[in-house]
Amino acid sequence: MDIFKKNSLVLAPMAGVADTVFRQVCKSSGAGIVVSEMVSAEGIKYKSSNTLDLLSFDESERPFGVQLFGADPSSLGDAAKFVQDYAQPDFIDLNAGCPVQKVVKKNGGSALLRDKVLFEKILTAMVKAVSTPVTVKIRSGWVKDEWVDVEFAKIAQGCGVRAITLHPRSRSMGFSGKALWQRIAEVKQAVSVPVIGNGDICTADDALQMLRVCGCDAIMIGRATYGNPWIFSEVKAALCGQPSEPPSVAEKTATIVNHINLYVETHGEDRASKEMKKHLAWYFKGVPGAALFRDRIFRSEKIEHLIETVNSINTVKG
Ligand SMILES: Cc1cc2nc3c(=O)[nH]c(=O)nc-3n(C[C@H](O)[C@H](O)[C@H](O)COP(=O)(O)O)c2cc1C
Repeated sequence: MDIFKKNSLVLAPMAGVADTVFRQVCKSSGAGIVVSEMVSAEGIKYKSSNTLDLLSFDESERPFGVQLFGADPSSLGDAAKFVQDYAQPDFIDLNAGCPVQKVVKKNGGSALLRDKVLFEKILTAMVKAVSTPVTVKIRSGWVKDEWVDVEFAKIAQGCGVRAITLHPRSRSMGFSGKALWQRIAEVKQAVSVPVIGNGDICTADDALQMLRVCGCDAIMIGRATYGNPWIFSEVKAALCGQPSEPPSVAEKTATIVNHINLYVETHGEDRASKEMKKHLAWYFKGVPGAALFRDRIFRSEKIEHLIETVNSINTVKG
């Protein structure tokens, strides 16, 4: 799938974090491709406003993918068809990596890695239901050291999947230990579709190293974007052999204020003043006087107070 060859920097799907507003902020900071928070295939049947909200995106986010989770082939086929018609994303991704109990107890997410017949049926149903490219995101297995990533990547390719993302940990590892990048290299060698490597990229150097060590086509960044969407511009500069300058305080402030304003425009002031608090706490991490800022943020009830606090960073750092 060409988009992953042209845009090697992907923002990871992150439920509760990478909503349309944060995705737009990351896109303006250099992310090439973004993916929705995971959306339940069963939930799509009821078309609740919360579920439909997860499908909305801004045209500036393209190339944009919608990620689905579930465990029933026909529900996932129907959900993919609905998503294609309703949202018209650039690709539709299957979540076969989520370790969260709520998801795996219904056999979704990484639980699919225990059942290759079901995994194959689901991907076959999705590919058959839509003309939009289907992709998949997997972990390396259910249990540590019992790796199934190569086998599942080959199955996925055989089903007509157009790109594969690998987070090389088992479900049992959660986020503990180190992501086993060597596994990304093995999957890359085993399939011909683009492979996106994911896991533990914290800096631009890490990103370059993953591309070099694994030979993957693209890299996906998750937690390192918390309060740091600029990681994408840093990686972009590093890829062009340029020094990756961290943004100035003024640039950072402008991005943060833009993030707040975009949130207000998209969801209204009430929701913005609640939801932006976690992002602001991340943005302020490590800034001199961070504890004071956090305290001010958590006591603020109005958007203008949040913006005032952000602008006061200039004063403190200056
Ligand atoms: C808060 C949070 C929410 C996540 N939600 C999703 C999700 O909806 N779908 C998914 O495939 N992975 C999800 N992930 C996993 C990430 O996409 C990514 O695979 C993982 O964080 C490892 O990458 P990183 O080391 O760059 O953070 C989530 C991770 C976090 C921390």
